[in-house]
Amino acid sequence: MTSKQYFDDVAQQWDALRQSFFSAAVREKAYAVAGVQAGQTAADIGAGTGFISEGLLRRGLRVVAVDQSAAMLEEMQRKFASFAEIDYRVGEAESLPLPAGAVDYVFANMYLHHVASPPAAIKEMARLLKPGGKLVITDLDEHNFEFLRTEQHDRWLGFQREDVQSWFTEAGLKNATVDCTEENCCAQSSCGCQSASVSIFVASGEK
Ligand SMILES: C[S@@+](CC[C@H](N)C(=O)[O-])C[C@H]1O[C@@H](n2cnc3c(N)ncnc32)[C@H](O)[C@@H]1O
Repeated sequence: MTSKQYFDDVAQQWDALRQSFFSAAVREKAYAVAGVQAGQTAADIGAGTGFISEGLLRRGLRVVAVDQSAAMLEEMQRKFASFAEIDYRVGEAESLPLPAGAVDYVFANMYLHHVASPPAAIKEMARLLKPGGKLVITDLDEHNFEFLRTEQHDRWLGFQREDVQSWFTEAGLKNATVDCTEENCCAQSSCGCQSASVSIFVASGEK
């Protein structure tokens, strides 16, 4: 099964699953690090059903939601039918469907550990930023819970923070930092015999 098929299959249950994995405090941390301001435009990459987009819309930003899975975006569209400020685009990590310099912020929550090449994905997200724009990624610290790969289609078992910081710098971003969110991602294996609790980092950098 491909990652796209996996997320197409779980689209309708994603909100319930996500709520069991991590809390809304993760996105609050991401917005705070970015210093989001009403009236600006953000891209939510690997948007899923709109966890990050939801808070941005509430704060008065316009959002471009990008995901490989049309089913996830359809679910998001159903939830946010009353919002005119969202642009939905099906797209892949390697060639995001936006021109260079299009947005003030790029967010990606729990997306990086699913992509084939994290450094290339970061470079491609950085491409979308206007000068002075910010990339903010929230994702998992390195762990060894193999069941997240076999059962939830994770490609990478988290990341070392030094690697993420270097990838930001290599993508041409300034002031690259990686910090704690003080939140964890929690999941149980299907047999019930393993419980994962993995710390979540927030990485940021400026174009
Ligand atoms: C774990 S979900 C997170 C969804 C959302 N950001 C959230 O926090 O609820 C990862 C999302 O990234 C998308 N994704 C994974 N690999 C991708 C790729 N190579 N290109 C575009 N989207 C991708 C998946 O379809 C899925 O919706």
